[in-house]
Amino acid sequence: MTIQKPTTLAQKPMIGLMSGTSLDGIDAVLCAPDQPGMPLLASAHLEIPSRLRQELLALNQAGPDELRRSALASQQLARCYAEVVRTLLEAGGLAAADVAAIGCHGQTVRHQPADGYTLQLVDAALLTELTGITTVTNFRSRDVAAGGQGAPLVPAFHAAAFQHAALGRAVVNIGGFANITLLRAGQPTRGHDCGPGNALMDGWILQQLRERFDRDGLWARSGTVLPALLEQLLAHPFFMRRPPRSTGREDFNLAWLTSHATVAQARPEDVQRTLLELTACAIALDVHTARPRVDEIYLCGGGAANRLLVERLRELLSPLPVLGTSTLGMDEQWVEAIAFAWLAAQCLQGLPGNLPEVTGARGPRVLGAIYPA
Ligand SMILES: Nc1ncnc2c1ncn2[C@@H]1O[C@H](COP(=O)(O)OP(=O)(O)O)[C@@H](O)[C@H]1O
Ligand SMILES: [Mg+2]
Repeated sequence: MTIQKPTTLAQKPMIGLMSGTSLDGIDAVLCAPDQPGMPLLASAHLEIPSRLRQELLALNQAGPDELRRSALASQQLARCYAEVVRTLLEAGGLAAADVAAIGCHGQTVRHQPADGYTLQLVDAALLTELTGITTVTNFRSRDVAAGGQGAPLVPAFHAAAFQHAALGRAVVNIGGFANITLLRAGQPTRGHDCGPGNALMDGWILQQLRERFDRDGLWARSGTVLPALLEQLLAHPFFMRRPPRSTGREDFNLAWLTSHATVAQARPEDVQRTLLELTACAIALDVHTARPRVDEIYLCGGGAANRLLVERLRELLSPLPVLGTSTLGMDEQWVEAIAFAWLAAQCLQGLPGNLPEVTGARGPRVLGAIYPA
């Protein structure tokens, strides 16, 4: 695909780079910023090399020599991001000078808004140096500094791209963790984290079968829900918290899962099935209790490709329609990366990216740190 060269800065495409808590890889998009919904011009996915993935996972917890290790991991990430940017430019037949900027989320290794910090690794100076393109990064910290959760940040983009004139819509992004955006014309956009998305399912299947994820939920399908375990998992204090709320590996991890005695005695596939049910129930509960009221649900993120998860969501949410964002013209896989291109464009125009009613920040803030080319 070759893209017509833009003539003005405002028309220049933006790049969005997203690598989420699933650590499955980098989603990269090239999109047009001057049209609503930022239509996709090109996209690419790059797996994070397995040693770097393991190191990033390890850096989610306290360990020796963390500062040096995270500096080195940040550099390696920047090199991966630069590689996928090269792929995108080649796909679009563009040079660095044809692109306005990169919005790069970075890799979350800690998320502790209650303690006033959230940490996304990427050596953005190196990424700018390697690509020759202005980079915007560190989107979450400003919102946290203003008293917010720093998450979720996608709702403002969901509102720009998916709001319907009459219907109430929920957009549910199922990454490592799941978040919901509630859209209804004339009312403030709401949103919060629902709880675990794929992270626990991925962690469990990796530990039990050495598989990266449970494709289409096939392994979970071979098991049955353990009602007692499900009840224990749903008793996690996170589910009692009212929005604004956000979560991560600090709240939901394998150590927490295996601290429930039932897990050791259960068939592993039944645990997997129960984890899938946990994700489905957490999302369904948030849709059922949503204000503004929801008429239709749109899924995005990798979890939208998990057939059993989608089936269960359809059952739990019936008669409401549960669809994918591709029915609205945006492929499920790229929504979050497009959102970070959009957030970078907001930053460069001096416009806010957060929604205080979502994150709990004291007010709207321009999000991101800019590394000029
Ligand atoms: N076909 C599929 N079946 C089941 N799960 C899938 C499938 N495709 C992707 N996933 C899940 O989606 C995850 C990646 O989702 P993603 O939205 O990229 O999350 P993150 O933003 O945390 O990186 C994978 O780790 C996997 O759990
Ligand atoms: Mg991902």
